[in-house]
Amino acid sequence: CHFKCGNACAKDVCNTSDNSYFRDIADAALSRRSILGLGAVASAALVVGVETVGATAAQADTLVAPQGGGKLAFKAIAPVPRTVDAVTVPEGYDWATIIRWGDPLFNNTAQFDINAQTEKRQAGQFGYNNDYLNIIVDKYSGRSGVLVANHEYTNEDLMFEPAWFAANKAEAAKIAMAAHGFSVVEVKRVKSGTPWAYVRGGERNRRITATTPFAVDGPAAGSDLLKTVADPEGRTVLGTLNNCAGGTTPWGTVLSGEENFNQYFRCTGSASDARYGLSDVATERGWEDVDPRFSARNPGYENEINRFGWIVEIDPQNPTSTPVKHTALGRFKHEGANVRIADDGRVVAYSGDDERFDYVYKFVSKAKYRRGDRKHNMTLLSQGNLYVAKFSGNSPAAQIDGSAAVPTDGAFDGSGSWIPLVKDGASMVPGMSVEEVLVYTRLAGDKVGATKMDRPEDVEPNPVTGKLYIALTNNTQRDTTGKATVDEANPRTKNRDGHVIELTERNNDATATEFAWNILLVAGDPSKDESTYFSGYPKDKVSPISCPDNLAFDSKGNLWISTDGQPGTIGYCDALHKVTLTGAERGRVEQFLAVPAGAETCGPLIHDRDGSVFVAVQHPGENGTFQDPTSFFPDYVLSPSKAKRGEVYGPRPSVVQVFSSTKGNGKNK
Ligand code: FEO
Ligand code: CA
Ligand code: CA
Ligand code: CA
Repeated sequence: CHFKCGNACAKDVCNTSDNSYFRDIADAALSRRSILGLGAVASAALVVGVETVGATAAQADTLVAPQGGGKLAFKAIAPVPRTVDAVTVPEGYDWATIIRWGDPLFNNTAQFDINAQTEKRQAGQFGYNNDYLNIIVDKYSGRSGVLVANHEYTNEDLMFEPAWFAANKAEAAKIAMAAHGFSVVEVKRVKSGTPWAYVRGGERNRRITATTPFAVDGPAAGSDLLKTVADPEGRTVLGTLNNCAGGTTPWGTVLSGEENFNQYFRCTGSASDARYGLSDVATERGWEDVDPRFSARNPGYENEINRFGWIVEIDPQNPTSTPVKHTALGRFKHEGANVRIADDGRVVAYSGDDERFDYVYKFVSKAKYRRGDRKHNMTLLSQGNLYVAKFSGNSPAAQIDGSAAVPTDGAFDGSGSWIPLVKDGASMVPGMSVEEVLVYTRLAGDKVGATKMDRPEDVEPNPVTGKLYIALTNNTQRDTTGKATVDEANPRTKNRDGHVIELTERNNDATATEFAWNILLVAGDPSKDESTYFSGYPKDKVSPISCPDNLAFDSKGNLWISTDGQPGTIGYCDALHKVTLTGAERGRVEQFLAVPAGAETCGPLIHDRDGSVFVAVQHPGENGTFQDPTSFFPDYVLSPSKAKRGEVYGPRPSVVQVFSSTKGNGKNK
């Protein structure tokens, strides 16, 4: 955890605000429900009738058709014990590696040699710990495209030989900086359904690292809060850090969230620093010893920390474009961002703040989407309204007792509102300017009484129905001494396994300020844990699932959930699951794959029309060391002397494609 999130879970909770909890507002919520016209009957209809909201009759027919068919039919695999170092896929499927940490992107980049790594080499190679993933297939071709991945963080224990690392800390830090950021790499294939291969030297290939210039835009661009001695204009930032999940916009750009950025900076220990988990202690990575901007103690760099924690947008089709940091979407530990176009043409971006007791946000653009006008559309995230979510339950507080027993009305559900933080260019938060709201967004959320959630990870609208899904990965401090109590939207004491909320905007209008919500599933191993819930689907017919993290959808609107943390909770390797959302099988969780020991499943991408599923296998063998690996994924070189050119003895974060196979069960390749 120290590399990944700066040991966030071992530290104090950042949100010490005294926001009202649900129990304090239950009565007010009930009266609000009548104001909204969302009485008990209407609300139940919203939940039960999910398949028809926002879908045409034809789409609804498709949605209630038997699930699991088409080119991605599969029989769920059994959960895989956490020490198994294999990619496990269903019967009839096989897997292949598309690209791995260190694979050269350019013709003049040296072949990977783990014992001869340099900053320059790494800056031309695929980065470390891939998280968000997309493969954007070129129009008309179908046989070419670009693969976009981000590189969340580095694990120096696995990347460097210990004696070399101890003697070369500065060079190692520079290599690590070059292993962060993004990779854009062209891919090609023989035909649909066959494995993609990456193109070394592709015209669109690009690395973005911790030193690549980004333009800052939106209302906080040029603010005094963003100025440093190196950038007195407050409009250009070097690099992006800790990019976790992301999303691809309808105009073909990629968004990604700067998540646990705090761990890279030494700060001065102000109140706002503490709210972001920043402190005045030397960092684990020690980048402040290499580059003065990583310490706020260095005169002129007090504001460098304010230049991270944003949603960034990159254009993968143009390798010379300047990537952008969007201040209009606020600054927090963004997991990612996902966009939906509202009926009136405005675009709505949803984002979660991945920290215990932090919030869910949405941004609504001022300007409208124009089909085919890419230049215009790339300005849409620069100006608009920013909201934070407040959830209210509809069951008596006494029935939300922390056991996650379903209340007598049959559901964890209720209504909610999007509370404005910035509206029509003005701050809606007393005592804070627009710039302050955007730079210290967590503090703004505290002031308006946003609902403290159990670590919001991916927040993603279903492209078929418009409904929003919120992965709440876990929060073992929920309802413990001195911490926020349970509420109907976060109903489990010491929520170890997480849950998923389904949210329906009023009238299915993405710009609405009111919504209905319900819990889709309360995660865990149902064979051992009574507090699990799968929307009423029989618990003996689902795969165990814990710590939901990244979300994706297939073309029929089924939800796919990847996990981060199952080994430490239910004892199984992290996984990718399909969840049926509609019809009689709603709530059915079926495990599609498992990733190798120590890894988490990231960036799921479901190309069901091609019969392919892609995952970014992040931090395989994380608990091992350079000399004593616990994973050998993906090349399975089992002895140092057997490594061929470009291979390593030990694990490498990689992008994997799973596809239909006629040649056996595809297991343990
Ligand atoms: Fe990087 Fe929220 O996981
Ligand atoms: Ca209820
Ligand atoms: Ca994540
Ligand atoms: Ca994760």
